[in-house]
Amino acid sequence: MNQPESLVTLQASVHAPAYVKHVALLAWVRDIASLTQPAAIHWCDGSQAEYDALCAALVKAGTFKKLNDVKRPNSYLASSDPTDVARVEDRTYICCEHKDDAGPTNNWRAPTEMRATLTPLFTGSMRGRTMYVVPFSMGPLGSPIAHIGVELSDSAYVAVNMKIMTRMGKGALDVLGERGEFVPCVHTVGAPLLNGAADVAWPCNKTKYIVHYPETREIWSYGSGYGGNALLGKKCFALRIASTMGQKDGWLAEHMLILGVTDPQGKKYHVAAAFPSACGKTNFAMLIPPKGFEGWKVTTIGDDIAWIKPGADGRLYAINPEAGYFGVAPGTNDQSNANCMASLNRDVIFTNVALTDDGDVWWEGMTKERPAHLIDWQGKDWTPQIAKDTGAKAAHPNARFTVAATNNPALDSAWDDPKGVAIDAFIFGGRRSTTVPLVTEARSWEEGVYMAATMGSETTAAAAGQQGIVRRDPFAMLPFMGYNMSDYFAHWLALGDKLAKSGATLPKIYTVNWFRKDANGKFTWPGFGDNMRVMAWMLERIEGKQGGSEHAFGTSPNYADINWNGSDFSEMQFQSVVSNDRDAWRAEMKLHSELFTQLAHRLPAQLSATKATLEARLNT
Ligand code: GTP
Ligand code: SPV
Ligand code: MN
Repeated sequence: MNQPESLVTLQASVHAPAYVKHVALLAWVRDIASLTQPAAIHWCDGSQAEYDALCAALVKAGTFKKLNDVKRPNSYLASSDPTDVARVEDRTYICCEHKDDAGPTNNWRAPTEMRATLTPLFTGSMRGRTMYVVPFSMGPLGSPIAHIGVELSDSAYVAVNMKIMTRMGKGALDVLGERGEFVPCVHTVGAPLLNGAADVAWPCNKTKYIVHYPETREIWSYGSGYGGNALLGKKCFALRIASTMGQKDGWLAEHMLILGVTDPQGKKYHVAAAFPSACGKTNFAMLIPPKGFEGWKVTTIGDDIAWIKPGADGRLYAINPEAGYFGVAPGTNDQSNANCMASLNRDVIFTNVALTDDGDVWWEGMTKERPAHLIDWQGKDWTPQIAKDTGAKAAHPNARFTVAATNNPALDSAWDDPKGVAIDAFIFGGRRSTTVPLVTEARSWEEGVYMAATMGSETTAAAAGQQGIVRRDPFAMLPFMGYNMSDYFAHWLALGDKLAKSGATLPKIYTVNWFRKDANGKFTWPGFGDNMRVMAWMLERIEGKQGGSEHAFGTSPNYADINWNGSDFSEMQFQSVVSNDRDAWRAEMKLHSELFTQLAHRLPAQLSATKATLEARLNT
């Protein structure tokens, strides 16, 4: 970075408000502006007035449609370019000095090489556009566990989404002060407007780069305006960069929801659960206990990301670094997730859902009865008949809502507490039509880490590429790891060792699968609220009160160990979701072997040893 001139000159050169006194920030903004050459610079203060003005400008630009203000007050619909609808994992890079530190599961380039690739792309990339300076805090403002980022983006859509998803604006700059540390995040849609050319509703570029430099803690994102590609506080910072911070400083950044669950006696537990993208985190975090569970309460701390740190008492404390939800719309309805539906009553940005004739939104699975006519996510007429004839979806399968956590009626009172909540259990779950049973309790931390490390899941619409393909997704972190996956396993094992040696009781570890299918391709397990039955069994296990049967991989409940009050799920149905088929598991273990071969270079010996033990059990 160049040696800056005086503060006043710097402020003037980047049109900064007088309250911005951070010289390095001002100099960086100036440098990026001179690289990307925006027509204007807008410093986001994070106020409601600013949000409203930016949304109005997005309406004028055609990016947003304002929804019917009676049905859905203060809400908008954005429709993206049809080629820019999800995270792009094959365009996501971890650029550290040594390839081994990124590991075999990440795309890697040497930093100098990547910078040489990106510099020409970013040169002039914001021409004709406004560059928004978006300061944000991941975690409560001023909290010792929070970290500050500043995103420079030429997308107003990004700025308003960041307002909902993070603590964004002047407050974050106040925390930063004159010399605080921040993670610089540069984002461009890669669509300069040359010589006053007209804009499109969703500018983007077919070339995309989502780049992380963990050693210098920088993020550079080119070509996409969608979700995790563009809202850089989320996956890029709070997972990929934060995972490397955690490795260094002894904590964990995880793709986990965090919930509170209170039993009828008033005892409260906290559970963190890692499921891959579009595999049920938001739904589980907002769970409404089913009939037969009167007196139980589930409250949301976070729905996607957890930062987890050991406390002085040896327990693991989790916070949600985010302030909003960027959640999957399709499948969400009053039966599956009434808390979510209530959260979406007002103040929402919808992306890629369908528009109803009365100016409201709709998506597949929202209502039993489908509307007679819609405008689909690509702006085309949609009717049930068209859907039948062409297979056209009204909403894109990865259509999303952006909404503030404070809209959630089930929000936990501690969701914003800088201390975090002490975790009693970790749950890992994939989307598996076969093989993996409803729930298994690991016999030890090591076996739990093994099960999380070898977890498989069917790919979903949350990422570009083929769907429904089973792949290994260790800890639901495959797309979000900022360093070598084997080193990450070692980090989990070492943390467990350290806590155990300090005399602490480690959280129990469970694996679940809500997604087994029957011969007709239908989900066997009712899921959603009924997942409470499984969670209640876990909590009773923690109290040492509940039974189960041990098998090769740990302990699963018997039919009689689950509370079936209010349910007609039969013992036969139950057997079909908890059974462990030996042949299927032998085939599954081959996939574990393939993963371990891929990760062999730095794989912790404990994991290979655990594998051998499990295989021996499987074969007896
Ligand atoms: P990301 O935001 O991509 O990280 O996804 P997520 O893990 O939060 O997943 P989400 O809760 O949004 O669920 C994704 C899809 O799975 C939605 O269509 C849900 O309706 C569906 N789903 C969630 N929980 C269950 C369940 O218990 N059973 C079944 N069958 N489907 C579920
Ligand atoms: C995911 O894909 O896991 C998400 C959505 O939570 S995105 O923010 O696009 O990554
Ligand atoms: Mn996610």
